[in-house]
Amino acid sequence: MRSQDIAKQPIGIFDSGVGGLTVYRALHERLPNERFVYLGDTARVPYGTKSLSTVERYALENSSFLASRGIKILVVACNTASALALPKIRAKIGIDVIGVIGPGARKAVTLTENEESPRVAVIATEATVSSNAYADSIHAASSTAEVFQSACPLFVPLAEENWVDEPETRSIAERYLKGVRDFDPQALVLGCTHYPILRDVIQKAVGADVALIDSGEATAEEVENLLKDKALANPDQISYNRERSLCDDLDHFYVTDAADRFARVAERFLGAVPTKLEAIEVYGKDELATRRKS
Ligand code: DGL
Repeated sequence: MRSQDIAKQPIGIFDSGVGGLTVYRALHERLPNERFVYLGDTARVPYGTKSLSTVERYALENSSFLASRGIKILVVACNTASALALPKIRAKIGIDVIGVIGPGARKAVTLTENEESPRVAVIATEATVSSNAYADSIHAASSTAEVFQSACPLFVPLAEENWVDEPETRSIAERYLKGVRDFDPQALVLGCTHYPILRDVIQKAVGADVALIDSGEATAEEVENLLKDKALANPDQISYNRERSLCDDLDHFYVTDAADRFARVAERFLGAVPTKLEAIEVYGKDELATRRKS
């Protein structure tokens, strides 16, 4: 395929479920001239409590499905899948793959590099924290940074329920984030797709002087640079010809289960319901292999 034609293809995004819509929103805002194909693995969510081999298997099936839809790059919106499965995904599909861990970590280092002793806290799922992926990426960018990590699993259902300003959410945030407050960081990475939804309550619990880093936004910045560097930006001027809005008919959403619930939570997260939403099956399927045979 000619490079002009590759650049016209959409950007693929996958997440364990609905949370990756925060990353989709960041990408959509920064790159209104691009089309997106999103896969939420709603049948198998959550990934954050699962083992390495299971997350790797799910991530490979999701990536293979999206690659078979003709995407030009793949964004792994799920922090857990980015932390555990990026090398396996990169080895399998022949396009650029961007996870959310590296961009979030690099942004944290950029924001704290002038500090005498840079201190970065990370909140994420249990699996992401145990993998140490954020700590490793932060240390790769700054050998002097001190890192504190903490898992906040209850934030995922609270965000999906839209309990963004309930007393229960505030008291859970106080309890989860006590360790972060004691560590006294300059920056806190929101290392899970759902946490930006609870941004205000998290900010109040850690104090106004801590810079919150949205890994999805940091990823969107790096995706923009990658598209420029590799001449992969869409040459069709769609954003000049029509007003783009979140979830419009240029973007295609797939889920592996419960499409109605996905649409409801999408409306809470984005204020918009996907125009094109389809339930599909990826379990045990290797779409790339099937395509190659036919
Ligand atoms: N998407 C996951 C992440 O960012 C959170 C939800 C889950 O545990 O699957 O790590």
